[in-house]
Amino acid sequence: MAVLVCGGTGYIGSHVVAALIEQHEEVVIIDRMATGREKAVLGGKLYLGDLNDPKILDTVFKENEIEAVIHLAASSLVGESMTQPLAYYRNNVEGTLRLLEAMHKHRVDKIVFSSTAAVYGDPERIPIREADRKMPRNTYGETKLAVERMLHWAEQAHGIKYVILRYFNVAGAHDNGLIGEDHDPETHLIPLAIQAALEQRESMIIYGADYSTKDGTCVRDYIHVMDVAEAHLLAVNSLRNGGKSAVYNLGNSEGYTVKEVIEAVKKVTGREFPIQIAPRRQGDPAVLIASPDLIMEELNWYPKRGSLEKMVESAWEWHRTHPYGYAESKQGPWRGELLS
Ligand code: UFG
Repeated sequence: MAVLVCGGTGYIGSHVVAALIEQHEEVVIIDRMATGREKAVLGGKLYLGDLNDPKILDTVFKENEIEAVIHLAASSLVGESMTQPLAYYRNNVEGTLRLLEAMHKHRVDKIVFSSTAAVYGDPERIPIREADRKMPRNTYGETKLAVERMLHWAEQAHGIKYVILRYFNVAGAHDNGLIGEDHDPETHLIPLAIQAALEQRESMIIYGADYSTKDGTCVRDYIHVMDVAEAHLLAVNSLRNGGKSAVYNLGNSEGYTVKEVIEAVKKVTGREFPIQIAPRRQGDPAVLIASPDLIMEELNWYPKRGSLEKMVESAWEWHRTHPYGYAESKQGPWRGELLS
């Protein structure tokens, strides 16, 4: 039986696929590849298609014996979600609705869903616990929260069991050196700082140095992408073993300021680059730090690559060897089977 990975060609999805393959799981992927990369897929059977298309979902579920679904297919840019909210509802909410309908129709009753710290908005306390107030400040977080609620009701009526993973700030690349982070446009702090170190951009901009944090810049909880991938395997296994539906934060419970991250990038790369202070970015909470206690207790997950320096080293290794991302990457040709 196979695990269906929706969004398996993206940054996090490709690491989840790699982890599944390492565990000798049979993998089927569906991705419309709006932001994903074919070269990021290290194996499995790839269907090119959109979750909003019930026909392709029907084909995937008919042609494969799907045991469980890992769903990471979503639009995920906070800024873009504010200017194109309807597209975010269509891709993230309607896409998941179609997926759940197909699961119900084909009697697949296990799903692991990628959610986000953005569901909390401005947290009421730090570290954030799963039951804390959820008040998204952007459409992206709102669409993820809508899906979380949809899963709750789908379980009640149709018995679809779920594990929701609320990612904090995912960073780093696979140890195998083949896959890593390659967004276009890039908006995330660590890859942008590395681009500045590689002189691919003139300077690094810090969005806001007037927050009430220790150095005035925002604090985030960074988590290695391979630790994130491993949590997905544990979540699938928990559902296979009859585990209950659950919602977990996925973070390290340690916060680093934007300035600390930039310093870590300078240290790891051994390169200097100019920094500019700009006004705050709209919608950025000052501090986001997870309490991952629940997933540690219930799934026995723990982050193995938790130090900021290790994460930056891992990201640097990928970017140093792939300065243009997958564009000039030598790996591949992709070893799976492409279907549409
Ligand atoms: N930042 C800068 N300069 C930059 C880029 C980012 O100062 O050029 C700052 C941001 O203002 C923020 C921090 O660095 O304070 C981290 O920013 P990222 O864009 O790397 O990550 P976010 O915390 O904004 O977003 C991440 C995910 C989102 C998710 C969110 C949940 O990318 O998908 O965490 O909190 F919604």
